[in-house]
Order: sequence, then structure tokens, then C-alpha cells
Amino acid sequence: MKKVGIIGVGEYLPKKILTNADLEKMVDTSDEWITTRTGIKERRIASSHEAASDLAINAAKEALKDARLKPQGLDLIIIATITPDMQFPSTACLVQANLGAKNAVCFDISAACAGFVYAIIVAQQFIARGTYKNALVVGTEVLSSITDWDDRSTCVLFGDGAGAAVLSEVKSGGILSTYLGSDGSMANLLMMPAGGSRNPATHKTIDKRLHYIKMEGNEIFKSAVKIMVDTAQIVLKQAGLKCSDVDLVIPHQANVRIIMAMAKRLGLPSDRVFLNIEKYGNMSSASTATALCEAVKVGRIKKGDIILLDAFGAGLVWGACLIKW
Ligand code: UT7
Repeated sequence: MKKVGIIGVGEYLPKKILTNADLEKMVDTSDEWITTRTGIKERRIASSHEAASDLAINAAKEALKDARLKPQGLDLIIIATITPDMQFPSTACLVQANLGAKNAVCFDISAACAGFVYAIIVAQQFIARGTYKNALVVGTEVLSSITDWDDRSTCVLFGDGAGAAVLSEVKSGGILSTYLGSDGSMANLLMMPAGGSRNPATHKTIDKRLHYIKMEGNEIFKSAVKIMVDTAQIVLKQAGLKCSDVDLVIPHQANVRIIMAMAKRLGLPSDRVFLNIEKYGNMSSASTATALCEAVKVGRIKKGDIILLDAFGAGLVWGACLIKW
């Protein structure tokens, strides 16, 4: 098996900023409630002509530049998204066409907020076995397109963005251990009920507002901390490492209270946890992807550091990946 690592990262955030003050004018909420309950101050909103593939393409170009790789050098593109441009074809194919990555095999992954971690681990399998050499993995979301702007319990949480990584064989370090988990018995806690084959779009589904995110946030909160802690401990054990060996955790950015509770249980000081939730809210698959990219850009990740990616989301699904940078 070959060693696999991340050789380039990139991100793209739409220009438009929606602040908590803006939301105060839209629904019965307050900056104080949103800040103390979630840690979010503002989020980005895609323009009307920006779809998930557009965000992904921008993030991908930056990641390819960082990796010093031409699009033709890619033989695999995996896009993690729950807001694809359309039901089919895959957003990965749309990204491929725009990049001119004509040698790549392309498909999407639906693993909600854990999508980027899922996609990294899938790409790793192909590269480790020697099936493919260079993979582009992108977490991209236009959650604003499925957000009910009249529902204060969800609309304050989500934002739009994309983050990308290029994976390839590395001589040393790279991905040390991985773990994925799923529990479909909790699927009802977070979903978009209509638009698929269960409830195809009709006037009725639209009138009932079924094409928006429905979430029982409180119930998810209860499972989230335990899942993230357990998942972290599994990958650490597999790699023969301890929490104190971790230089930086890149967690899914759903709620700062979930993240800090996880860090506390793991005995990790807060300065070893990377946050971008304050600026962007919860961007599902794009959260860990952009956080990883930003941590690299601001110098929080250096060669030889041990990095823990840890995410969970609708499904429920979860996953973690321990990387020596
Ligand atoms: O991305 C992966 C999956 N998602 C998550 O991980 C999300 C996990 N859940 C959470 O982060 C939290 O549960 C939320 C941030 C969604 C909600 O926080 P909470 O502390 O669990 O609040 P709650 O749902 O228990 O609601 C508390 C109160 C309620 O009022 P009453 O019934 O106590 O009078 C809500 O109606 O807060 C009210 N509320 C709001 N008030 C002001 C709910 N949303 C808002 C709002 N502004 N935006």
C-alpha cells in the first residue's frame, strides 16, 4: 500500500456576508442568542448565479495551484455535497468539464457534514492501492438554496462555501489512520424531505415547505459530542498516538459549544482546535474543507504536525482522519 497525503489545499467563499444583525431584521432572533448558542457571527451567501460547482471550481483551482498540478494530471475527482447543482449529472462531472480534467473519473458523495472526510478516505483507498495517482476532493455547499429563511431555528446556522484538497502519494507522513461510521436510525433528525423520489416536487410539497432543511438540533447535539470524541479516540488508537500528540484538530463547525465540549473531553487545550464557524457558520461538507485550508494558509499547520479531521452530520454519519502533514 502506498502512503497518501494532501499535497495542496484551496477554498472559495462567496463575497456576500449575512450578519447576525441582518438576520435580526428577517426573523425573531438576536445576535446575543446566535452568538452564545452557536458561536456564529456571520456567514457567506452565494449570489444567484453561483451554484455548488462554481464554488467548487474556484476552490479546486486554488488547490491545484498549491499542489503544482495541472487539471490533466487528475485521475479522480470526488465532490462531497448535499446541494449539488442538480440531481444529475454529478457535480463532479460539471467541475471536471470546467477544469478540463479530461483524464479524471468523477462522482459525488452524499455524506452531509462528514462529506469531505468521507471523500478524503475514499480517495485514499484508490491512491493507496495504486488505482489512481492524483485525486481532487472538494466539499462544496450552497446551503442558502435549501434554507428556510422563515425558520429561525435553522436559518441562523448555515452558510455557503467550498474547500478543496489534492491527494497524492507521499514519501513520508500522510494519512496515518481513518475511521467512518453511520447510523441510519437517526436519519429523521436532519433531512430535506422533498425533491427526491419519496416526495417529488409538487405544488403541495412546495406549499408545505418540504424543500428546506428540517433539523431537530437538540437531539443531534446530544449525540454529536460523544460521536466526535469516540471517533477521535478510535483513529488515535489505530495510529498508536495520544491526544497530546495532536497539534491541531479540524472539527466540523456546527456549533462552538459542541466543539469545545469535545475538546474538553479529549483533554485538548482550545488553542489546538481550529475554528472558522464565527465567520462562516455551518457549511456542511465545506466546513472541515475550508478550515483545513485556512489553517494551512495562516501557518497553523506545519510540516510534521499531527492533524485530526473529525466530522459528523445528517444520516447520521461521522468520520475522522489522522494526518501527519
Ligand atoms: O451540522 C451537523 C448537524 N447539526 C448540528 O450539529 C446542530 C446541533 N444542534 C445545535 O447546534 C443546537 O441544538 C442549536 C444551535 C440548533 C439550537 O441550540 P439549543 O441550545 O439546542 O436550542 P433549542 O433548540 O433547545 O432552543 C432553545 C430556545 C427555544 O425556545 P424555548 O422553547 O426554550 O422558549 C427556541 O425556540 O431557543 C429558541 N430559539 C431561538 N431563539 C432565538 C431557537 N432558535 C432561535 C433563534 N433565535 N434563532
